[in-house]
Amino acid sequence: MDIQKIRQDFPIFQKRQGLVYFDSACTTLKPRQVLEAQRAYNEEYSGCAGRSAHAIARQTSDAFEAAREKVAKFVNAKPESVAWTRNTTEGLNLVIRSLDYSKRNKIVTTKLEHHSVLLPIFEQRRRGIATTGIIETGKDGVVTEEACAKAIDRDTALVAIHHTTNTTGMRSPIEKIVKIAHDNGALVLIDGAQGVPHSKFDFQKSGADFIAFSGHKMLGPTGVGCLVGKPEAFENLDTFIVGGETIETVEMDKVVFMKAPKRFEAGIQNYSGAIGLGAACDYLSKIGMGDIEAHERKMAAELIGAISSIPGSQIYGTPDPAKRCGLASFNLKGVDKHQVALMCDSMSKIALRSGLFCAQPGMESMGAGKGAVRASLYLYNTPEEIKVFKDTLEKIAKLGS
Ligand code: ALA
Repeated sequence: MDIQKIRQDFPIFQKRQGLVYFDSACTTLKPRQVLEAQRAYNEEYSGCAGRSAHAIARQTSDAFEAAREKVAKFVNAKPESVAWTRNTTEGLNLVIRSLDYSKRNKIVTTKLEHHSVLLPIFEQRRRGIATTGIIETGKDGVVTEEACAKAIDRDTALVAIHHTTNTTGMRSPIEKIVKIAHDNGALVLIDGAQGVPHSKFDFQKSGADFIAFSGHKMLGPTGVGCLVGKPEAFENLDTFIVGGETIETVEMDKVVFMKAPKRFEAGIQNYSGAIGLGAACDYLSKIGMGDIEAHERKMAAELIGAISSIPGSQIYGTPDPAKRCGLASFNLKGVDKHQVALMCDSMSKIALRSGLFCAQPGMESMGAGKGAVRASLYLYNTPEEIKVFKDTLEKIAKLGS
């Protein structure tokens, strides 16, 4: 994997010389291949899919469905398993809020989840539709098989859990969770926002019933994401947002909806976004997700090493880099988290995120209830950038000592 060659595909590195972009868990940079695919749609055939019969509409339909096939292939799912959404949040809401809870009504999750998992669950609880069960996790943020087996029972309708957290970059044991859930007759929904972009995810092999992810965290555009589901799992979901294109027939007293995934794609879709996400999948596949994962593991070790070398630093989650993707949340003794992030930006053009990362209960459970600083890497980051980061942190840490 030639990182310097990869960096040349990202126009932002030419336009913002010296940028050290360590905020890919928030959103990733975009390569010109993605920008070009979107430009072609907008300039050359900006029609609607599945409606009009003219040439540019047909070209849009073909490109839109080709993009669905690319995403499906990327996660080893069938195209009819892929529903377009706006983002991970929408996919998670879609499942959690439209699942049938008439026979079982418990939703099991962990405290470590992003608010986009927790809040729809809490909404179902607030409305008296579902109860919640928690898989207990310790201060190290590890999800154990034993804790899963304790929390998931025959009242469980759904287990909603991260693939990889956005706070520590640690993974949950998906295949073991799926087994425990299925043995109890429950469905499994995976928040794949931080997992699908950083590892080779095989939907069919995982056994999960649903996974949601976003385009913009995997080099694609904002405003587009996917909910991938088993056809039979989709049958357990009621309608969510309804409107044009979700139906077979509409009479004033009878509506016949289409099958999934079209049943969930109401109204005009984000065609340029979907086409851009398809191009992002092509781009990542061409480099190879195995190589990207290996690069990130190596970088994770350097990142953890750099932060741990600073006196008074504290990293959240397990210190074992083999258990993480290239992401670390940390604090420096005596310096406020936002101050650290702002100083990294102004001193060395290092882009970080600081705060609670939309995961307040999880941060509290790991002893970071007042927030932290987060560095999150991707395929375009280099060991030289980590060196700049380390040197900058050393200077900042001196202010707190
Ligand atoms: N979920 C995104 C993050 O972790 C926004 O930064």
